[in-house]
Amino acid sequence: MDRLHDLQKYEDEHGRKIADENRPAFHLSPQIGWLNDPNGFSQYKGIYHLFYQYNPYGTRWDYRMNWGHWTSSDLIHWKFEKAALAPDQPYEDGVFSGSAITDKDGSHLLMYTAHYEKEEICGQTIRRETQCLARGDGENYIKLEGNPVIDEKDLPDYCDERDFRDPKIWLEDGTYYAVIAARNRHTKKGMVILYASEDARKWSYKGILEENKGALGTMWECPDFFSIKDKNILTVAAMGVRTDNPVYRNGFTTFAFVGEYDSKTGSFTAGEPQGLDLGFDFYAPQSMETADGRRILVAWMQAPESGGSCPEEMKWFGMMTFPREISIRKGILCQNPIEEIRELYVDSVFQKKLAADAETEFEAINGRLLDLTVTVHEREDQNWENFSMKFASNGKNYVRLTYRKTDGHLIVDRRKAGRSASLCDVREVDIGKRDTFKVRLLLDRFSFELFVNDGEKSLTGTIYELPLDAEGLSFEAAGAEMDIEKHAMKAAPVAF
Ligand code: FRU
Repeated sequence: MDRLHDLQKYEDEHGRKIADENRPAFHLSPQIGWLNDPNGFSQYKGIYHLFYQYNPYGTRWDYRMNWGHWTSSDLIHWKFEKAALAPDQPYEDGVFSGSAITDKDGSHLLMYTAHYEKEEICGQTIRRETQCLARGDGENYIKLEGNPVIDEKDLPDYCDERDFRDPKIWLEDGTYYAVIAARNRHTKKGMVILYASEDARKWSYKGILEENKGALGTMWECPDFFSIKDKNILTVAAMGVRTDNPVYRNGFTTFAFVGEYDSKTGSFTAGEPQGLDLGFDFYAPQSMETADGRRILVAWMQAPESGGSCPEEMKWFGMMTFPREISIRKGILCQNPIEEIRELYVDSVFQKKLAADAETEFEAINGRLLDLTVTVHEREDQNWENFSMKFASNGKNYVRLTYRKTDGHLIVDRRKAGRSASLCDVREVDIGKRDTFKVRLLLDRFSFELFVNDGEKSLTGTIYELPLDAEGLSFEAAGAEMDIEKHAMKAAPVAF
């Protein structure tokens, strides 16, 4: 049985049947079925490649994972490529997350986790995760004979072989390195461990890069490790976070550690973790560096706990965030949509000094496909206390954002968006008291991404059930003055 071939045939047959209007306009969705983590985000021979955790046969996660594949020449217009990897080897039942680089010989090298899972006769499940390689030309990929290249025997005793996954590989001065997610079998806490290799085949364990020393998760998944200027940044997606700190989304959250790394000793010293996105739906981010030196991140735009909430009639489920450029300002990791977004602007409106003492709608400031920025500041001789904006509104359904200057809290409320009541629907975050508040909204058919104060904070959420014709916007900010910049966006359907 050729699993990969069957899958390619299946996705080709079913993916095309989904009308463009039933997909996001400028966010990526799977060809058919379910998507989770971004994988193998890289530039290879001048083309951007992004792979994804993929179950084409249903709209739920399944351990028999595959790698779906898109390519793009500008990070805006994408094309569905045929699926790249399927679990077709004796050592794997699922092809889990991983990453990609251009190898020394010029080939596209994928490093992924082979997830092995078997039900034994007495009801006991045998689970094991090992790290593997596949090599390709940007279109076809072949798994290496020597797989797995990192397995149980390369793992220190205190790491659990059942939770050992998501290698992020990079090449530095001719040596290969990989950070891999692991779990301490004694403390049951998440950690990221480091490996090095001269040939990508034989790897040696270099130590713990960072670990949960408190209540920051029972397993850390999908680590990424990179530098921006003189800072090194580790990001992790954490499972089972137990804290009442509102900056860390309870349950599943994504952290960034900003610090310094000594590549000679492999040691990493970092400050307090920052919550990477404080909204509802953001997990497993992965980044790459563009040829012009920008660090671009894409994340799975879904909270893992909402995995069972696909609307019934939908044939696909799961999206990626719009690509974000990340930067460090005063030690804070900031995120903003990549500047290429301008390619999608069709109609732009700039309005200054608008007042909205009661809830107000403004002409030409509406739409469902939007890149909108509002700057709120005080009106002459007046003081303002609250700013509130409803978007994707039809009066009955909407998402509401409120900034309370009095205590510096930002509240995003999607209770009227129609998502299941069992999912988190209000987020309240302390972003500090400011006289000027700036928020940017990227609004698509099934999602919103909010960037606050030039990307210092982001809050992302899905709105799968919010009617597509809900495209009203209203504002209220007594005593304030608002400058609004609105760009209507055109759709960039993914090509087949
Ligand atoms: C994160 C994750 C990864 C794993 C993949 C499996 O969402 O659990 O750790 O590799 O999904 O689909």
